[in-house]
Amino acid sequence: MNVARSIEEARRLRRTMPESVGLVPTMGFLHEGHLALVRRAAAENRSTVVSLFVNPTQFGPAEDYTTYPRDLERDLSLLDAEGVDLVFAPTAEGLYPPGYDSWIDVGELGTRLEGAARPGHFRGVATVVTKLFHIVRPHRAYFGEKDAQQLAVIRKLTDDLDFDIEIVGCPIVRDPDGVAMSSRNTYLSARQRDSATALSRSLTLASDMWRGGERNAAVIRHAMESLLLAEPDTAIDYISIANPDTLLEIPWLDGPALISLAVRVGKTRLIDNTRIPPGFPK
Ligand code: PAJ
Repeated sequence: MNVARSIEEARRLRRTMPESVGLVPTMGFLHEGHLALVRRAAAENRSTVVSLFVNPTQFGPAEDYTTYPRDLERDLSLLDAEGVDLVFAPTAEGLYPPGYDSWIDVGELGTRLEGAARPGHFRGVATVVTKLFHIVRPHRAYFGEKDAQQLAVIRKLTDDLDFDIEIVGCPIVRDPDGVAMSSRNTYLSARQRDSATALSRSLTLASDMWRGGERNAAVIRHAMESLLLAEPDTAIDYISIANPDTLLEIPWLDGPALISLAVRVGKTRLIDNTRIPPGFPK
């Protein structure tokens, strides 16, 4: 497995790779959710590239950029075991040298939900993903449905800016207790971990209500709220029932919907989502 720490090195190694090339962008501290994307990329392409980069420009000033968990050695040995061909692990100064000042503005779609709670977040995501696309020049790029709005933003960006790249969305990987895997789960105490199960339980409740014939979004949202607030140490950032493409709220679930939520468990902010009808394709 090759490891490139600079853009020049990544470009040089990329030129020697058999095509097609699949790219999996990550911020590292890998778990089974990331590895599912890596396996999918490896199965669908002759060469697989994984990027490991905690991207400073997608974190707000009061967010966890400096404390975000990192373990490069462990990540490299996991990726080596998966048969990855190239890991691109640049430095922050490498991608954003002094004077760097060009940005991808993702517009409306990036202002709702996560974008409203985290101003500038999707500008940072869109900018770094664009840079990675230019450096790696993949045929396919793999993203998790766990970050449903991120996936929608990247699909739109790819379409709007004419990238000749297939964006592949991959299902959410969960722990046996239902909690969606996330590098940030390491912040949770054992008790908070119990509270964190309320996110997926509230989504199951919503799907069950929908299956039982409930179509009123306000009724479903209220039931989710009650379930979540019954847990100690939880505060709801938002519960959204929206059109999966525009992310605009819908009052009635009479077509496809994306139900998503952000909840603080103690100081840790967790997100999760599900689709109605269940499994409706992205
Ligand atoms: P990160 O949070 O490391 O996630 C990397 C990729 O793994 C994303 O596409 C994310 O949706 C996916 N992923 C994370 N947890 C998952 C889970 N439980 N099941 C399925 N997929 C999961 O998302 C980012 O990094 C960054 O914003 C990035 C796109 C790399 C840009 O900096």
